[in-house]
Amino acid sequence: KKVLFSGMQATGNLTLGNYLGALKNWVTLSDEYECFYSVVDMHSITVRQDPATLRKRARALLTLYIAAGLDPKKNCIYYQSHVSGHAELSWILNCFTYMGELSRMTQFKDKSAKHADNINAGLFTYPVLMAADILLYQADVVPVGIDQMQHLELTRDIAIRFNNIYGDVFTVPEAYIGKVGAKIMSLQEPSKKMSKSDENPNGSIYLMDDPDTIMRKCKRAVTDSEACIAYRDEQPGLKNLLDIYCACTEKTTDEALREFEGKGYGDLKMAVGEAVVSVLKPLQDEVARLEKDKSYIDSIIKENAEKASYFANKTLRKVQRKVGFPDRI
Ligand code: TYM
Repeated sequence: KKVLFSGMQATGNLTLGNYLGALKNWVTLSDEYECFYSVVDMHSITVRQDPATLRKRARALLTLYIAAGLDPKKNCIYYQSHVSGHAELSWILNCFTYMGELSRMTQFKDKSAKHADNINAGLFTYPVLMAADILLYQADVVPVGIDQMQHLELTRDIAIRFNNIYGDVFTVPEAYIGKVGAKIMSLQEPSKKMSKSDENPNGSIYLMDDPDTIMRKCKRAVTDSEACIAYRDEQPGLKNLLDIYCACTEKTTDEALREFEGKGYGDLKMAVGEAVVSVLKPLQDEVARLEKDKSYIDSIIKENAEKASYFANKTLRKVQRKVGFPDRI
């Protein structure tokens, strides 16, 4: 089987963008690949976190992976910080990554503008840790939203560079971008992506929003004054609503457009709200159910950390040998 790796940060409240752009595809792909799904808590501390909150959110995220339909017996679902190989490989890869490459990362530029009081070295080398995550498991495919493409390109460059020096050590991974939902936009400012760090809570639908809140946010979504339901760049608000609708209902854009022919924006917004609720409500119920089963989740955490470490160490030992570290006796 080919290998799949992906991860999500346990920072902030997850949005519908995280679900439609990533998690939903993870579930679809999980039968076809040997999968590693990590809660990337080490990435989270590049921005200052409250320890108790981070711990709680990491656990909630791991539970969400399972609630979304990833079978933890078949898929390796674990905390990044439980597998020391991520940090170890990350150090080695730091020595094969250029300052210039990292300076060009748009996420670094955005985040350092936003957290000007804490532009730490971890924020700068963040993409190297991400490359280590992926290369450690020799992943063939990495399902992500469009915003992570630049990091994935860098991962490929690092892998190719390393392989050119030392021979075929790493599998060079490919991104998997879903057909719909790869870039869900803010409901209030459809020119920017829906983000958990948005200050305006009406711009994002959070995965744990209750049905009333979801309906209200959809009704308030910014559209335009064309008064015509169409799917085109000139009407970004509508385009986004149609994307959300199609991603939640598995319908094609054409099917959706036919369905809303002659209808008003209000009808579309209602239908989008209902479609989102019908996806998120069962997910929330399943999270609530799983959260009660503490010992089950604990056992998953332990077993999968061991499984991930086993695979991680295989790559790590090989890399350590290649770069010239002494053999273990
Ligand atoms: P993160 O935690 O910001 O986001 C998790 C996933 O959600 C996707 N996503 C979106 N997709 C569509 N529309 C949106 N509005 C939207 N917002 C977020 C992201 O593209 C991502 O797939 N650096 C990564 C985490 C990471 C990782 C990895 C991912 C660390 N190591 C290795 C893949 C492989 C991040 O911050 O994602």
